[in-house]
Amino acid sequence: MPEQAVVDRVLSSVVIPTIPKIVQRLTKLLHKRDAGMNEVAAELAHDPALSAQVLRIANSAYYGLEEPVLDIARAATYLGMRTLYEVVLRASILRTFEGVSDGGFPIEALWKHSILTGQLAQWLTTQSNLRLDLGPSDLYTCGLLHDLGRLVLLSAHREQYEEVLRLARSAKVDSAAIETERFGFSHTQAGAVLACIWQLPQPLQDSIEFHHGPERYLQANATAAIVALADHVARGVEPGSRLAPESLATHPACKLAGLPPQALEELVHQAEVEYRQIEV
Ligand SMILES: [Fe+2]
Ligand SMILES: [Fe+2]
Repeated sequence: MPEQAVVDRVLSSVVIPTIPKIVQRLTKLLHKRDAGMNEVAAELAHDPALSAQVLRIANSAYYGLEEPVLDIARAATYLGMRTLYEVVLRASILRTFEGVSDGGFPIEALWKHSILTGQLAQWLTTQSNLRLDLGPSDLYTCGLLHDLGRLVLLSAHREQYEEVLRLARSAKVDSAAIETERFGFSHTQAGAVLACIWQLPQPLQDSIEFHHGPERYLQANATAAIVALADHVARGVEPGSRLAPESLATHPACKLAGLPPQALEELVHQAEVEYRQIEV
């Protein structure tokens, strides 16, 4: 959580949406050993869109079920509490901020960047020799949601924030510095305040708050470091950017993970291929 003065600036400038009830409920259950799937399923059953999403994932090829499952409680059991939490969290956040694109903002580029960051963070966990408490799909969620603060800024100050993004793009600089100048806080801090108020899991809060550094923090936090690297590479393969794999060797995540040069080349290649394939 950023320091109190920053939190105050964020809260006086933007409205933090209320946490969707189902996310709040699942966050509590996630920490309980005897979490009742039936209880969760009963709540999900009131939400047709979320139920459909859960059924779609449980019936996907990944779970290899012999027969299709149509019962929410069974589908939830197959997915397990953590995956269920991720599915519900992602869907709820998309829904919370769906109005952002109504004002004409081309949200697709931001989603594409977020999905690619999630995919690269997931891939990195399977390649690195870091000891992480989280699995690849957790890292996917951390990557997917790392720029949550941009949605907070867009929904509160759309025109001003679009201008900030334009300025950052044309000057080829990190937008965080311009945000701090304009709003008194950056998208990483706005996102961190939301993540803290919503009591999202700590690794997710850390990835949101520290994916642009500071470097000393990334050296001590492997999850945030991986998301920072994934974000950096995802930005580096966007049109108009050119990322040299060898330039990554000094990134804190590469140092922590001990990734060899060929892995860095593969990472950038992977990012280029996936960037072309992601449809939003
Ligand atoms: Fe960011
Ligand atoms: Fe990003």
